[in-house]
Amino acid sequence: MKIGIIGTGYVGLTTGTCLAELGHDVTCVDNDPKKLEKLQAGKSPIFEPGLEELMAKNSQAGRLTFTADIKPVIAASEVIFICVNTPPKKDGHADLKYVEHVAREIAEGINGEYKVIVDKSTVPVKTAEKVYETIKRYSRPDAQFDVVSNPEFLKEGTAVQDTLEPDRIVIGVDSKRAEAVMLACYQPLIDKTHAPVKITSVKSAELIKHGANTFLATKISFANLIAQTCEAVGADALEVLEAIGLDERIGSQFLKPGIGFGGSCFPKDIAAYKKTLEVLDLNPDFIEAIEALNEEARNRFIHKIEKELWVLDGKRIAVLGLTFKPNTDDIRNAPALTIIKKLQLDGAKIITYDPQGMGNAQQELSDIEYATDPYDAIKSAEALVICTEWDEFKKLDLDKIKSLMATPIIFDGRNIFNPKQMAEKGIKYFGVGR
Ligand SMILES: NC(=O)c1ccc[n+]([C@@H]2O[C@H](COP(=O)([O-])OP(=O)(O)OC[C@H]3O[C@@H](n4cnc5c(N)ncnc54)[C@H](O)[C@@H]3O)[C@@H](O)[C@H]2O)c1
Repeated sequence: MKIGIIGTGYVGLTTGTCLAELGHDVTCVDNDPKKLEKLQAGKSPIFEPGLEELMAKNSQAGRLTFTADIKPVIAASEVIFICVNTPPKKDGHADLKYVEHVAREIAEGINGEYKVIVDKSTVPVKTAEKVYETIKRYSRPDAQFDVVSNPEFLKEGTAVQDTLEPDRIVIGVDSKRAEAVMLACYQPLIDKTHAPVKITSVKSAELIKHGANTFLATKISFANLIAQTCEAVGADALEVLEAIGLDERIGSQFLKPGIGFGGSCFPKDIAAYKKTLEVLDLNPDFIEAIEALNEEARNRFIHKIEKELWVLDGKRIAVLGLTFKPNTDDIRNAPALTIIKKLQLDGAKIITYDPQGMGNAQQELSDIEYATDPYDAIKSAEALVICTEWDEFKKLDLDKIKSLMATPIIFDGRNIFNPKQMAEKGIKYFGVGR
């Protein structure tokens, strides 16, 4: 099938590349000239394991191309995926101006042939209705099209694998014609993986995405509530949560205490869902509690550092990990940024290392030193703060850490180390909920 992808970020580039891998003829559109230059040179603008190799393979096979020119892509494609960003507005509503802009461009490019317009960006329920109205308003009178919702569940860091081996494929359609086109689009993947396909109404599909992210964020905030309780009574949150998670009805994933969730999705998606509840005159207290616990997790961690180090002014603090989670270069809403900025306000001198996030961090952070490796960051530090659980950090030599640091104190925001082992090594150690 001929497929157009509008927006080549984490979602668009992965979706486009994987659909090409499945045999489709894919053209990706982006309006960021810098990004496009890289893509056309065969380079991925983002760090995502396996993506660049797959891009090269499919570009060479002639199934994957990149352009800034949207009109011919709309005219030539049977299926057009909208994958643009939907950032939060200041009040928490999702900002849908990029989606609206693309809808207008699609309207202008649409010809006499039937098109399926797929909303893959995460959007509030009833957005597809607005996309439909917009395209209808600005397109030629004989335009034939349907708008469907096909939410994306990939995780940064395993985006290619998640796309090629999905847990489920959700297709929200209100027309049989669009359903048949979408099933044809995903048929090679369904044949290969036997992934469950959920055909729903458009509105249900839109809600599935906000519901899934809210539930995952709930598990993290719940784990942080247990961590607070454990710290208050001297229990171990990891023991408590591990045993809770062994209940099949609950499951252990995302039941980990730490410095809270960040990234480009959870904070904005649950804020947008809260706004949906408010607009519908429904009670948003549940979401507010998740958000409050998340903020508290970060603040309590900062407070632990401030309490132990007392005066931070002039102190050299090493921060390991900048990205919101491992195996990505994405630092959007990463807890590390909030923590670093607060420690800098207190006068601390920060030296940091992250395997992939330092390039992006340069646009966000100032007055900071970037180290060449973890040990280089730790050298002469009066405290080590761990913000991201990269595997590389889990394997660090504790004796070497101790000998390099001015004073061996570790604040482990991701519980990657064992408190008992730290005590044996003579390192003062603060985990979360332990
Ligand atoms: N990142 C994730 O892990 C993830 C997972 C699932 C869903 N989502 C959702 O998918 C959507 C995209 O997320 P992302 O992380 O890929 O965003 P992103 O910011 O990485 O990428 C968006 C891309 O769209 C491009 N763009 C914006 N307006 C455009 C236009 N008019 N024409 C052409 N290109 C345009 C931007 O230049 C950018 O390259 C969001 O709604 C997000 O919530 C993200």
